[in-house]
Amino acid sequence: MSAPNKSFDPVEVAALSAESLDAARADALAAIEAAADLDALKQVRLAHAGDRSPLALANREIGALPPAARAEAGKRIGAARGAVAQALKARQAELEEERDRRVLAEEAVDVTLPWDRAPRGGRHPLTTLQERMVDVFVSMGFEVAEGPEVEAEWFNFDALNFPPDHPARSMQDTFFVESEETGLVLRTHTSPMQIRSLLSRELPVYVVGPGRTFRTDELDATHSPVFHQLEGLAVDEGLTMADLRGGIDAFVAGMFGPGLVTRMRPSFFPFTEPSAEVDMQCFVCRGASAEPGGAPCRTCSSEGWIELGGCGMVNPRVLVACGIDPDRYSGWAFGLGVERTLMFRHGVEDMHDMVEGDVRFTLPFGMEI
Ligand code: DAH
Repeated sequence: MSAPNKSFDPVEVAALSAESLDAARADALAAIEAAADLDALKQVRLAHAGDRSPLALANREIGALPPAARAEAGKRIGAARGAVAQALKARQAELEEERDRRVLAEEAVDVTLPWDRAPRGGRHPLTTLQERMVDVFVSMGFEVAEGPEVEAEWFNFDALNFPPDHPARSMQDTFFVESEETGLVLRTHTSPMQIRSLLSRELPVYVVGPGRTFRTDELDATHSPVFHQLEGLAVDEGLTMADLRGGIDAFVAGMFGPGLVTRMRPSFFPFTEPSAEVDMQCFVCRGASAEPGGAPCRTCSSEGWIELGGCGMVNPRVLVACGIDPDRYSGWAFGLGVERTLMFRHGVEDMHDMVEGDVRFTLPFGMEI
């Protein structure tokens, strides 16, 4: 910047001439007009309205003019800077509007597009059904028991009174771990949880044990090598078969609604004596399909009855194996198939649907939590 109060030198103040101010103003306006976006405009602002811009530099030279010429030059610079500032403001507004329009167009959400291109999964109906079955017993005061899927043969068979030569132990039914000598199997039923519960809990014991079980079956419409059971066990003083019947009836009412009759047919299991198969009246036709002239029923194949599972009074030998005095305590137990229940309760006809993991099968069951 030139020092003030020097004798007037027209070269030093050339920047203040009308021509150079007009030229600086014209340059600025042209650059503003040419700025294609907000970033470019920012650079233009620095170059033409910043501290080092020609107009700002010219402004600093005013002091070098003779006093009479200062007002005139000041006015001219002021007008030029004002015009530049206004043009900047106008272009800024223009470019912002342009940007907003573009962003709106680019980021627009098409609400008519399908929303389920990545559909949420559903819990598997076997899981939700199993939880519901458990809940019915929990509401009666039962606790939930657990046990391992790889089980000691002693828990799976011996303590449950299976004789050493029982056919269920054979390689045809049971998955052995490594070899038969290890004494380890994939549990073939949930009944070993009875033994584990009796050995680890204080009496009385009221437990339900849901779980995955394994048998060497081929997968077909009604069999799977991996399936699920719900085990139930009550051991207390003075329990009778009437308590077993009452427990089963309460379960049927809880799952299928009130008023359905149950029946027991004699059967055999090594760990219960006496043993029974329990049936419930069909919850769809309520037995009417089996009456003469009754309309056919798909749910019970017009039998009028649906097979629920096995049950019985805990064999005293099982109590003894767990160190319990069978003269003081008695118990009842049952085992229900979860896949079977899903099949007749929901009309699922093919086991493949339950194991293949296709969401078109699971989603219609909803997201029951
Ligand atoms: N564990 C038996 C099975 O897998 C089912 C069963 C029957 C369980 C009778 C029981 C019972 O607790 O009392 O075939």
